[in-house]
Amino acid sequence: MSSLTIPFMDIKRQYTLLSPEIHAALQRVFDRSLFILGPEGKDFEKEFSQYIGVKHGIGVNSGTDALHLALLAAGIGKGDEVITVSNTAIPTVSAIIATGAQPVFVDIDEKTALIDCDKIESKITAKTRALLPVHLYGNPVPMKKIMEITSKHNILVVEDCAQAHGALSNGRTVGTFGHLSCFSFYPTKNLGAFGDAGMILTNDDNLAKKVTLLRQYGEEKRYHTVMNGFNSRLDELQAAILLVKLKYLPQWNKQRKEIAEQYSKCIKNPKITFIQETTTGYSVHHLFVMRTKNREDFRHYLQSNGVGTAIHYPIPLHLQKAYTNLRYKEGDLPITETIMREIVSLPLFPELTEDEVNYIINVVNKY
Ligand SMILES: Cc1ncc(COP(=O)(O)O)c(C=O)c1O
Repeated sequence: MSSLTIPFMDIKRQYTLLSPEIHAALQRVFDRSLFILGPEGKDFEKEFSQYIGVKHGIGVNSGTDALHLALLAAGIGKGDEVITVSNTAIPTVSAIIATGAQPVFVDIDEKTALIDCDKIESKITAKTRALLPVHLYGNPVPMKKIMEITSKHNILVVEDCAQAHGALSNGRTVGTFGHLSCFSFYPTKNLGAFGDAGMILTNDDNLAKKVTLLRQYGEEKRYHTVMNGFNSRLDELQAAILLVKLKYLPQWNKQRKEIAEQYSKCIKNPKITFIQETTTGYSVHHLFVMRTKNREDFRHYLQSNGVGTAIHYPIPLHLQKAYTNLRYKEGDLPITETIMREIVSLPLFPELTEDEVNYIINVVNKY
């Protein structure tokens, strides 16, 4: 087999395929010249919230802001604890800390690398106000269990769906379970803008109203503020792009699944194991994550054969420098720490060609 060069991610391929549609959408916005809080944003909020199956969608500037504003709208702040995982993107935790609350970490399940539901209850204290499950890698957290635990203890649920647009848990779309759910449309996500963008979804009219105030200076009407707010709006150019792309999301998720299934079926190497899908869920395969003991050697081997890889994520958040004041130490979350030393992500995006997928499988199997 001749040698190929395959980047870990190539978002230009998607732009190239959609270029005429994207340019027509952008032209529409330029012709209107209304760039903030206009019809594109409204339409995208409506279409995306309908796609997920939640009453309100409020577009914001990023997934990070979505989490921050959702937690603030839920009244979470100083003195509160929010339970989540350490194996996640930094913003899951930075958003909690930005509210003044304290993140409390639960270890993860060895097979799925998602929150270990059996370990949640031991972390609940009188200060626990919310649980923040992260549907990492496109793989849905078992939400039925989460909702049972949280309703028993009267705790709010804010879902981090940044990597799981369209994933199902117990037959229902993720983002429909929590009191609030948060999406990112960072360019490399399953549904990605060409810049920063995010959305908060909720079925609760009151929470929707609060989030809407928070995203624009707390203004009830122009120049009248009723609560301290921010500037976190989804702009019209990004919304127009996302409206074009949303139509393709089910097809892209299906293509991701086909590639992931091919990897799982055809990669056979005793030095490698896979992070598994939850048995109760339907993953949208944002990332394809494997485990290997000698990760740096493996990555170097793949790179020298033209295959790009990445690590999601290399340092558990409880051991990050910024969070030393949380007073966690090595050994506190043993499964998280072990897995995070071994994980490596293969290229996985809908535009990968059959030849490229076969090439990657072949190279991995020869390691
Ligand atoms: C799990 C998770 N949460 C939150 C975020 C934050 O999203 P954004 O980059 O749009 O701020 C991301 C994306 O980076 C993410 O992967």
